[in-house]
Amino acid sequence: MRSPKDFFKPKAIGAPTPPREIPFRPSRMIHFFDPSNPKMAAKVPDLATKCDVLLGNLEDAIDSDKKVAAREGLVKIGRETDFGACQLWTRVNSLDSPWALDDLTTLVSEIGDKLDVIMIPKVEGPWDIHYVDQLLAQLEARAGIEKPLLIHAILETHLGVVNVEEICAASPRMQGLSFGPADLAASRRMKTTRVGGGHPGYLVRTDPDPANADAPRVTAQQDPWHYTLARMVDACTASGIYPYYGPFGDIHDALACEDQFRASFLLGCVGAWSLHPAQIAIAKKVFTPPVDEVSWARRVIAEMGDGSGCVMIDGKMQDDATYKQCVVMVNAAKLIAQRDPEYAEACSFSSDELS
Ligand code: GLV
Ligand code: MG
Repeated sequence: MRSPKDFFKPKAIGAPTPPREIPFRPSRMIHFFDPSNPKMAAKVPDLATKCDVLLGNLEDAIDSDKKVAAREGLVKIGRETDFGACQLWTRVNSLDSPWALDDLTTLVSEIGDKLDVIMIPKVEGPWDIHYVDQLLAQLEARAGIEKPLLIHAILETHLGVVNVEEICAASPRMQGLSFGPADLAASRRMKTTRVGGGHPGYLVRTDPDPANADAPRVTAQQDPWHYTLARMVDACTASGIYPYYGPFGDIHDALACEDQFRASFLLGCVGAWSLHPAQIAIAKKVFTPPVDEVSWARRVIAEMGDGSGCVMIDGKMQDDATYKQCVVMVNAAKLIAQRDPEYAEACSFSSDELS
């Protein structure tokens, strides 16, 4: 076992000191783009004004013969683009692929100072994070990077789910986890062919009517991802890092996408992937705390004083626990309001409250 005293020491001489905390930064949508596609690359500066996170994707969805072009395209985009308040992330190829080593080496060496987070797919256990952690430290030291790069893992293998708590705690660089329903379904041998969302066959049915065995019986679709998402949220929170819902593949079904995103928001996720520009607005809407909830939360906080005791507000019991929920809601709203003047006004935050 490694001594806790050493946990925050740089893992290579000359590498930056790993972070002790991962401050929350709005990351409601992680918008994926293909850096090998010149049309998409041209849209990056504009997308940077609309998104919390832009992610240059090098992994799945990029043809094998475009892997090098995507990597090089991302280097060019990283060097030439002013991202403003938008974060730049990348998803590298999986660690067992022929591209992962060059992805990491090239990106850290060329644009390590521009990248915020590196997403690692198909993580199976803490050993994958330890490898990336060590390699990043060596590469940062060589490139003279001053701000440590953060690691984000995709939870998309059955073994990854079994080891999720250890993955979250494997390095101080861990920033968060995204839920990857497509690969997870394949890895678990689930009998689905979709990318996230529900399934009409995964349902519960009411009991038969004893007086009429042939009467129709109401059914309700259930969420096949509930267990994993909830487990991921607990594992992330226990390690002080952030959970995200991943992809929703049916781009035309905006309503179901919104429902899936909202279910994860309510469970504790802070954002989701957007795979198409149409999903940017959906993620923004869902992962921004609703204005009426924020007003209510501010009222509870104001009336609860130091948060102790119990008060009734509009017939609803408030105590320490509801006070804390309200603080979570208002703090998230404030961070979003800091970069969104319209939202700040809608929530009636004063500039003092946001400074
Ligand atoms: C995402 O990468 C997924 O496999 O769902
Ligand atoms: Mg995947």
